[in-house]
Amino acid sequence: MEHDGNTALSSAPGPARYDVAVVDPDPRHRMKLVMQLAGSTAAASFDTVDGFLERFDEERVTVAVLGPSLANPHGLEQVARLAAGHAEVGVVLVAEELSTALLQHALRAGVRDVLTLGSGESGLHEAVDRVAGVVAGLSARPVTPEAPTAMGRLLVSFSTKGGVGKSMIATNLGVAMAKRRPGRVALVDADLQFGDVAVLLGIPPQHTVIDAAAAIHHDDPELLRTLVSEHPPSGLLVLPAPVEPSSADQVRPEEMLLVVQALQRLCDIVVVDMPPHFDDLVLALVEAADDVLLVASMDIPSVKNVKVGMQTLDLMSLAGDKLRLVLNRANAKVRLDVKEVERVLGMDAEFPVPSDIAVPQAFNRGVPVVLDNPRSGAARALELMADTLLAPAGPEEDDGSGRRRRRQRS
Ligand SMILES: Nc1ncnc2c1ncn2[C@@H]1O[C@H](COP(=O)(O)OP(=O)(O)OP(=O)(O)O)[C@@H](O)[C@H]1O
Ligand SMILES: [Mg+2]
Repeated sequence: MEHDGNTALSSAPGPARYDVAVVDPDPRHRMKLVMQLAGSTAAASFDTVDGFLERFDEERVTVAVLGPSLANPHGLEQVARLAAGHAEVGVVLVAEELSTALLQHALRAGVRDVLTLGSGESGLHEAVDRVAGVVAGLSARPVTPEAPTAMGRLLVSFSTKGGVGKSMIATNLGVAMAKRRPGRVALVDADLQFGDVAVLLGIPPQHTVIDAAAAIHHDDPELLRTLVSEHPPSGLLVLPAPVEPSSADQVRPEEMLLVVQALQRLCDIVVVDMPPHFDDLVLALVEAADDVLLVASMDIPSVKNVKVGMQTLDLMSLAGDKLRLVLNRANAKVRLDVKEVERVLGMDAEFPVPSDIAVPQAFNRGVPVVLDNPRSGAARALELMADTLLAPAGPEEDDGSGRRRRRQRS
């Protein structure tokens, strides 16, 4: 074993909270990283992961800074071995360049942060210190279960039919709610193949649900927070779908559910835009939701489709009283009596949204209609929906206005 550091791992100066080690087969990389860390800690250095594993102190929290020579599949295999067996070690990877693929692989392997060589001293110190804090927090966790953390509310924009306005509802609702609670509302695009939330909000998809799913096993809310983009005009936190439809199968339904639950711990409200088909993910999200916004559009095929879909899915037993009917394009030219729709579906049309030219106009500009044209009929209906959904829950029974009585019981 080559070990050009001290015989024992060195600690951060002052009260020695944790140890730091640099690992890279290339002595130049090792030297560079040790120098970068020198301002805050005297890091030991090792040429292999095995060498590090032979020497580190299992009783202490240790941050292993892995250099660019390990930023490849072979290196990450070793990281996975290290991370799986040693909860007291937090791994920071320093790569020459950062790509989405590398970030995903690294996070999946158990790396807690990925930086580039160009991140500089302060970037590296910050990452090392943060990771040490996370690892220390995890290992200090009591064995007895903690009091459950407050969970934000989960709203899903759902339909048994495609093209009825699920994404329109989800994006506008997210934005309208975020305006009332900036930084406290998140929107997740669960249409993993063809999700268009990022386009509809005009934000570049920097990180996507794939990155979040890869990071979810870390139990590190701060890491998840850094993977969520902010929609600047509203303060809505957004987790877009993968850019490549073929990447969809990289995310397992249970990982998506964990991502959504983790966001519920960070936010008051999490809105999920659903895909136009059914799979385990959709069913799991419907089951987990506090409110299922069932979107139907005002035409006979749509209403019939929603009815059949509800029966097939046995939606009533799955979603029950959580179902709230959004009747989109409620004034559409194909005259269909709202009362008739309510009778067929067995639910009150709690949220009617008119058909409005302002909606496609806003779509084309990548701006949600509640911001693009707040005076339009659609925007006003969507704002009202946001207010109603944010209002404190009252009695379920009819309060006289009929609004709270959601399901008709025949
Ligand atoms: N209230 C409305 N008034 C006018 N146009 C609307 C309205 N709601 C939705 N649209 C239009 O309908 C189309 C489909 O909307 P959207 O993409 O939100 O549906 P979706 O249910 O998410 O579709 P998919 O199932 O493909 O995900 C869009 O072009 C949108 O502009
Ligand atoms: Mg959609």
